Amino acid sequence: MTQITEKTTASMPGLLNGLSFRIITAILAVILVVELLVFMPSAANFRLGWLADHQRVGIVAARVLDAAPDAMTVPQSLTDRLLNAAGALAIAYRSEGQSQLIAHAGADLPHVALTIDMDHANTFTEIAGTLDTLFAPEGRVLRIMGTDAESPGASIEVLMPEAPLKAELGAFALRFFFLLFVLAIATSATLYVIVSRLLIAPIRRLTGNLVGFRAAPENGTLIISASRRRDEIGLMHRELRAMETDIYTLLRQRRHLADLGLAVAKINHDLRNTLTSAQLLSDQVANIEDPAVQRLAPRLVQSIGRAVGFAQQVLDYGRQNTLPPTLETVDLKSLLDDAAGDAAIAGHPRIEWRNRLPQGLKVSIDPGQFTRLFANLLKNAREALEQMADSPTTPRVEVTLRETPASLVIDVLDNGPGLPPRAREHLFEPFEGSGRSGGTGLGLVIARELAEAHGATLVLTDASEGTCFELTLPRALKVA
Ligand SMILES: Nc1ncnc2c1ncn2[C@@H]1O[C@H](COP(=O)(O)OP(=O)(O)O)[C@@H](O)[C@H]1O
Ligand SMILES: [Mg+2]
Repeated sequence: MTQITEKTTASMPGLLNGLSFRIITAILAVILVVELLVFMPSAANFRLGWLADHQRVGIVAARVLDAAPDAMTVPQSLTDRLLNAAGALAIAYRSEGQSQLIAHAGADLPHVALTIDMDHANTFTEIAGTLDTLFAPEGRVLRIMGTDAESPGASIEVLMPEAPLKAELGAFALRFFFLLFVLAIATSATLYVIVSRLLIAPIRRLTGNLVGFRAAPENGTLIISASRRRDEIGLMHRELRAMETDIYTLLRQRRHLADLGLAVAKINHDLRNTLTSAQLLSDQVANIEDPAVQRLAPRLVQSIGRAVGFAQQVLDYGRQNTLPPTLETVDLKSLLDDAAGDAAIAGHPRIEWRNRLPQGLKVSIDPGQFTRLFANLLKNAREALEQMADSPTTPRVEVTLRETPASLVIDVLDNGPGLPPRAREHLFEPFEGSGRSGGTGLGLVIARELAEAHGATLVLTDASEGTCFELTLPRALKVA
């Protein structure tokens, strides 16, 4: 039995190549990207809130001092406590043309590294500011400036170290990422379980079954069991089941047919040998000069000859055509003449033989196989022409060549009766396509197989009279 496909042993993919690993990494990656996108605005918001809180404490402190009858009477200890409450180094408050500076006694005003204008904050500047704070060097001093929302025209500036903001923002980021990490794990685990149940497990089952079945398709127990799912996976399951059942059945049939074919070949072989002996005897019988024998002998000889031919053709079909062609450079015109000789058409008393192939056309083909191909076509033509009762025109067989950019097209035509309906319906079907008694219906099948072995095609084409077979060779076979 011939193997259709190459048998390689497939194995299930390893952990890192498997679907589960790919899906879970893809889910995790997406969640992490989403987290980063969510984190930036949240952190910016947190920072803005923090700054606004401290600005407000500054405003309250300034109001407290403003409410005192005389700023000078406020004790320094109160000023210090107010500044500490706001977390500020100094506060400047301006309202109705009066300005007021609250600062620790005797301290120089520190160098301001960054001014934040609370009145003109937007998402973009906030996100940039957040990144700036997170990655800034230690020890910077900030100036938070803005207007007092409750008394229009009043403005406030608060000077404060950046360190506490940086620390709280860092802590916020840590909390945020920890929470989201837990969330990411939980989400991807849940998604994984769902995807696993719905997709991966069934796909693994299907894949495992496919791999197993291909390794041993003659084992009927490996056919996948039925599934009741109604989705695409269920459909795949059912289709696979149907396909495996078909393959299993076909394989059985093929094996039985191959066994039968072998038996037929053996019987046929013996039959041919017996018939050949009978043929020798019948030839001798034909020489006996008894009138009764002389009357019957030709029919006996003819019948036995036909039977030998039949057995021989069947044997050929089983045996020879399985070999790949052995290419040689040959002259096509003279090869065709040889084939016409084999088919008893060249030198035929009644049939005109026209070999119209150009002189010196060299092709690279298997000469034996091509002679057989042409001989089969020419023999059919001869048989058809011989059958015709005297027709007004001379019976003739003609072979011509047309060259196209891609191919050499060879037409084999005759002016006979054309194909009988039975042959036309079963054209190129072994044992079916014969339209004459004693025919095997193998001649055209063999011819086509031999053509295909050379990458050529053989088809029946329309002819105005008679029959025309068109053989198309790939141009590559032509030897320049
Ligand atoms: N040139 C032709 N003219 C008429 N009939 C043909 C021709 N070639 C083939 N046929 C028909 O096709 C049938 C099948 O041919 P083939 O496959 O060679 O089988 P076989 O010659 O054994 O019958 C023939 O029996 C014949 O009826
Ligand atoms: Mg034939």
